[in-house]
Amino acid sequence: MEFRSQKIAYWYFVAALPLFLLQVVLGLWLAVNYTFTVPQSVVDVFPFATARAFHTNLLVLWILLGFMGGTYYIVPEETRSEIYSTALAYVQLVALLLTGVAALVGFAFGWTKGRPLLEIPFPLNLVVVAGALIFLFNVGMTMFRAKRWTVIQGTLLGGLVFLAGLYLFGIPFYRNLVIDWYYWWWVIHLWVEGAWELVTGSIMAFILMKLTGVDREVVEKWLYVEIGLFMFTGVAGTGHHYYWIGAPSYWLWVGGVFSALEPLPIMLMVIDTMQHVKRRRTRIVNPLVWTYAIGCSILHLIGAGVWGFLHTLPQINYYTHGSQVTVSHGHLAFFGAYALLNLTTFYYAMPKLQGVAVFDDRRGRIAFWTMCIAMMIMGLTFGVAGVLQSYIERVLGMGYMTAQSYMRLWMGVTLFAGVFFLSGVVLAVTDLLSLKPAKVAAIKV
Ligand code: HEM
Ligand code: HEM
Ligand SMILES: [Fe+2]
Repeated sequence: MEFRSQKIAYWYFVAALPLFLLQVVLGLWLAVNYTFTVPQSVVDVFPFATARAFHTNLLVLWILLGFMGGTYYIVPEETRSEIYSTALAYVQLVALLLTGVAALVGFAFGWTKGRPLLEIPFPLNLVVVAGALIFLFNVGMTMFRAKRWTVIQGTLLGGLVFLAGLYLFGIPFYRNLVIDWYYWWWVIHLWVEGAWELVTGSIMAFILMKLTGVDREVVEKWLYVEIGLFMFTGVAGTGHHYYWIGAPSYWLWVGGVFSALEPLPIMLMVIDTMQHVKRRRTRIVNPLVWTYAIGCSILHLIGAGVWGFLHTLPQINYYTHGSQVTVSHGHLAFFGAYALLNLTTFYYAMPKLQGVAVFDDRRGRIAFWTMCIAMMIMGLTFGVAGVLQSYIERVLGMGYMTAQSYMRLWMGVTLFAGVFFLSGVVLAVTDLLSLKPAKVAAIKV
């Protein structure tokens, strides 16, 4: 740790990790709901929709806390200066955590807007906006005061401003449902396939530069190309969500063509990572971070690029829309791109923040393989359930519940794989929260 204020990041990471664990426990509960017939008395108290809202909102919360912590870690090193206000950073963290708790308690009592992923009620929206403004002000002031602009910094700030700005479109409720969904996708799609990709690109560029010792110019040149392509394909690619909501029919081909190109920048990111690995100049001090970084770039490509491409053309999406095929893609993409990005950042920064130069990475390695293999299996089993669902409901035209009875077995297998996934998460979370210097440090060169 070079700058004192980087320590802020540590508390964001510490806050994010238990939320990740809780998110996954709720995922298991959702899979139980699909596999078994849960007694009505339980459903009355804790309905599927509430558990699902917990699962997805916790996901967004811990991922965003990870991004914010990552930003507080990177910005001092990039600007060569301390964060503008440490106090504001902690105020913001507490405000966001309290909002999270209030949201979950509220969901349990039916206080929700009901729109997936963006269900928190209006008063809580206001707190989130205030938190985001504090964050942008703090990060922006640090950068403007230091005046040492770099491409990584600019992309990070741009991505964060874009991310916060988009959130505003999800706040109002439009009485016309077509318009409501139209803007809902501005938040959901443009977040994961636009703003978040910019944040990911810059965080990954920073970590790769530090890990490999490759020149900044090389890393930043790639970053330019990637963000250019992300914006070019991702913005018009929003159309792949406008096929069936009642929007004009030109979205069929605009969405189809542009979203089909979206895997391109993701592919470039993999090639770029591999190039850096080959060109590396420095000794590997923390090989576990490499494993996570390479795993992230590959699973990002599989989950978002390949799995996204599979159902993005209208001819296919007509059958798979809103089925477990979507869920399969949602899991692989979110885990590959954003959960693994955060875990890469945590494994990179947390040892440094605690002054642990070399640590025993066995637990972290087992956690990595357990999570990745289990998630790949879950992606496949959700996928099989989804293909069955699409065929039975959309090709054979049979009822929703008929399809469910055929899918049940595969949701059961998902539940089984999910238990392994959870064990990997428990291992990673406990490992990160209890990093200790390795006893064999002297022989690890
Ligand atoms: C890291 C990036 C990505 C993440 C995290 C992600 C995540 C998701 C999630 C969670 C959904 C479900 C939304 C809902 O209906 O509730 C979804 C839908 C979808 N995604 Fe992605 N996605 C990513 C990238 C991509 C890419 C690159 C493509 C195309 C090449 C794509 C194609 C689609 C399509 C077509 C749908 C709609 C499925 C339907 O009609 O039900 N996604 N994505
Ligand atoms: C033990 C692990 C997990 C299990 C068993 C699980 C299970 C589920 C289930 C059953 C659903 C509801 C699907 C539906 O509404 O039909 C769901 C939704 C979702 N989960 Fe998980 N989950 C797990 C972990 C994760 C992780 C680690 C992530 C992200 C990193 C994640 C992201 C999501 C997303 C984005 C949705 C909404 C999907 C959509 O709208 O299409 N889940 N999960
Ligand atoms: Fe999308």
